Amino acid sequence: MAITLTVNGQRRTVAAAPDTPLLYVLRNDLELNAAKFGCGMAQCGACTVLADGQPVRSCVMPVSAMAKTKITTLEALGSASNPHPLQKAFIEEQAAQCGYCIAGMIMSAKALLDRNPRPSEAEIREALAGNLCRCGTHNRIVRAIQRAAKEMSP
Ligand code: FES
Ligand code: FES
Repeated sequence: MAITLTVNGQRRTVAAAPDTPLLYVLRNDLELNAAKFGCGMAQCGACTVLADGQPVRSCVMPVSAMAKTKITTLEALGSASNPHPLQKAFIEEQAAQCGYCIAGMIMSAKALLDRNPRPSEAEIREALAGNLCRCGTHNRIVRAIQRAAKEMSP
């Protein structure tokens, strides 16, 4: 069936079965490849995108449930020449090894900073508890979010 979504401020119509995971539509139909397939079971956070500003696991979110939702993916945040403060801070703190988890980490961090511009370290760790990093860069990721928070609300 045809399903119309609002993704990164644009209306996009795709042909998909209603129970198709949003992640598949983003990656396969809309060529938005930042969100990653990790576990496919809402356990790792690699597929995190924002739905009306809230982080959701797109690997288990049926696309049909998203029709009235504003979806934001990492692609909407910034570009290589004009990165979002979070993207800049992740680079400055070298907060990635393989990078597989990073899109999900940044989207969870964005949702956090949007609702709490100066989070404590404990609040950052709590907000990212569902985002796993197999490379063990958690401490750098926390520092990157603290750095971005400072830059965004000096
Ligand atoms: S791929 Fe969605 S939570 Fe792991
Ligand atoms: S940087 Fe490799 S999984 Fe996080």
